[in-house]
Amino acid sequence: MTFSLEGRTALVTGARRGIGAAIAAGYAAAGAELILMARDAALEDTLEAIKQNGGEATVITADFADPAAVEKAAIELARTRQIDILVNNAGTIRRAPAAETTTADWQHVIDVNLNSTWAVTRPIGAAMAERRTGKIVTIASLLSFQGGVTVPAYTASKHAVAGLTRALANEWGPAGVQVNAIAPGYISTDNTAELRADPAREAAIRQRIPAGRWGRPEDVVGAAVFLASSAADYINGHVLAVDGGWLSR
Ligand SMILES: NC(=O)c1ccc[n+]([C@@H]2O[C@H](COP(=O)([O-])OP(=O)(O)OC[C@H]3O[C@@H](n4cnc5c(N)ncnc54)[C@H](OP(=O)(O)O)[C@@H]3O)[C@@H](O)[C@H]2O)c1
Repeated sequence: MTFSLEGRTALVTGARRGIGAAIAAGYAAAGAELILMARDAALEDTLEAIKQNGGEATVITADFADPAAVEKAAIELARTRQIDILVNNAGTIRRAPAAETTTADWQHVIDVNLNSTWAVTRPIGAAMAERRTGKIVTIASLLSFQGGVTVPAYTASKHAVAGLTRALANEWGPAGVQVNAIAPGYISTDNTAELRADPAREAAIRQRIPAGRWGRPEDVVGAAVFLASSAADYINGHVLAVDGGWLSR
């Protein structure tokens, strides 16, 4: 059963809500045991969904605004647990024109989306390479390909995680580790709430999506299971758009 995650342990970051919560529940349904890394241990809804899907989870706390703390937690995890799948999902966005984006806002977004992704991936990926098996799935964005509208730090961070995905695929591919990314389109989560609250912007986005609707967190789950499974053993360094066709337009 090539899409099964039975017997695998998956670390999912930022799984309290949105896309990360959906992926964690989907991985449980596919047979994986979960480790959730979040800034707060209060993950009741996600833990309940995992349980409903027949899975089990442990929670590790680390604030992704503090990459040094995240690295410390990841080094400890790499030392004590065998992690077969890593999903780099935790992410944040600050919307403001470049001239009004403060250096503190820039630093925060780069820390959460890029520096903490690196802080988790380096020790966990190195341990996978040592064991000569593992899957890393990073949540990139359409803004890994496009410039976006007044989200400069976010766009820079998401271009960077796509580059990191390719760099690590090259380096760890020979050691049996596949490093891929998913670029979700416009998905209805808190990340995009501001866009959906503006009727003109909401309609403009929806009308540009060939699928004719916004994505739901569950729309991302199939790709995340696929890239973590042995069905994707020969796929490496790829950024897979799950965007209802947006990039084809
Ligand atoms: N929604 C979209 O259209 C879209 C499109 C492309 C890419 N993405 C990416 O998908 C990923 C998930 O986003 P989402 O749409 O599901 O948004 P979301 O609902 O806002 O969820 C973001 C998740 O990241 C966590 N997080 C944020 N800041 C954190 C911090 N400092 N430390 C630890 N965890 C932190 C949040 O934890 P808390 O709940 O504790 O705040 C939450 O679980 C992000 O990387 C985002 O950039 C989203």
